[in-house]
Amino acid sequence: MPAYTASAPGKVILFGEHAVVYGQPAIAVPVLDVQAKAIIRARPTGEGINLIAPEISLHNQYKHLPLDDAIALAIRLTLDQLKVPELPACTLIISSTIPLAAGLGSGAAVSVAIIRAVSRFLGHLLPDETVNKLAFEVEKLHHGTPSGIDNTVITFSKPVYFVKGEPIAMLEIKLPFMLVIGDTGVICPTSVTVRDVRAAYDADPGRYETYFDLCGRIAGKAASSIRDKRNPALGPLMNDNHQVLQQIGVSSPELDTLVDAARNAGALGAKLSGGGRGGNMIALVEPHTAENVAAALREAGAVNTIITTVR
Ligand code: PMV
Repeated sequence: MPAYTASAPGKVILFGEHAVVYGQPAIAVPVLDVQAKAIIRARPTGEGINLIAPEISLHNQYKHLPLDDAIALAIRLTLDQLKVPELPACTLIISSTIPLAAGLGSGAAVSVAIIRAVSRFLGHLLPDETVNKLAFEVEKLHHGTPSGIDNTVITFSKPVYFVKGEPIAMLEIKLPFMLVIGDTGVICPTSVTVRDVRAAYDADPGRYETYFDLCGRIAGKAASSIRDKRNPALGPLMNDNHQVLQQIGVSSPELDTLVDAARNAGALGAKLSGGGRGGNMIALVEPHTAENVAAALREAGAVNTIITTVR
């Protein structure tokens, strides 16, 4: 009995989180070192879809999941897209090495892997554009009003220069660079910080427009630096972006501690990444400082570190 497997990477936002929700550009890159995977296999007997996802202790039938469950929604949207009323009896196993609720895109990666596996199983692997569109619909469950950056970078598995509502623009990395990703271990749903930023924006739109403009300008300068192979210039831009994110109100003592630790250990720059108030931070490093920075982050309280090359 053939099994169909699909996977999708994690991601980090290099520049422009939160401001991207308000129309500013942002840069995100895939993190290929961590992946979500979906395996689907037909069952010769029985009926319905058996779902197994060990990381979230899920062992259930698709039909028993609530309508607002993200996994169920990814399956339903795929069936609707292909105009198939239901799947033949099968087992769908979902696994992931992407830390959950940490700003590394685990939700979007799981959606993308499921949509690809289910559509392949039905003999009609959906094109990336459609996978991206469906994954965006699922993101709305996780994030409320997502910009679409997570599903885009994860679907295409390429660095993106993302502006909400505009055609997707890939960002070619001409000169690879290294990041250390440090996890605070603090879980803070992105929907919470996005909602809080919206409330703060509504209370003082002028001030927040200024912050978002600044983030957009930093992302623009970062894109130029990447295009011109001036990678070390990304470090100070990360520091600037972190400072604005602190003013926006989405950093936390844990994130600030890790950002400081990375800088003191020789990183060229560091910032929080993603929704904030927890989750991950990133540091720009050189090959000879990477291990040092990762060790300093763990010493400063990071529960996990990943050294990755962006290419
Ligand atoms: O999924 P996260 O935590 O990396 O955050 C996504 C980035 C935000 O800009 C905060 C929200 C969005 O939809 O773009």
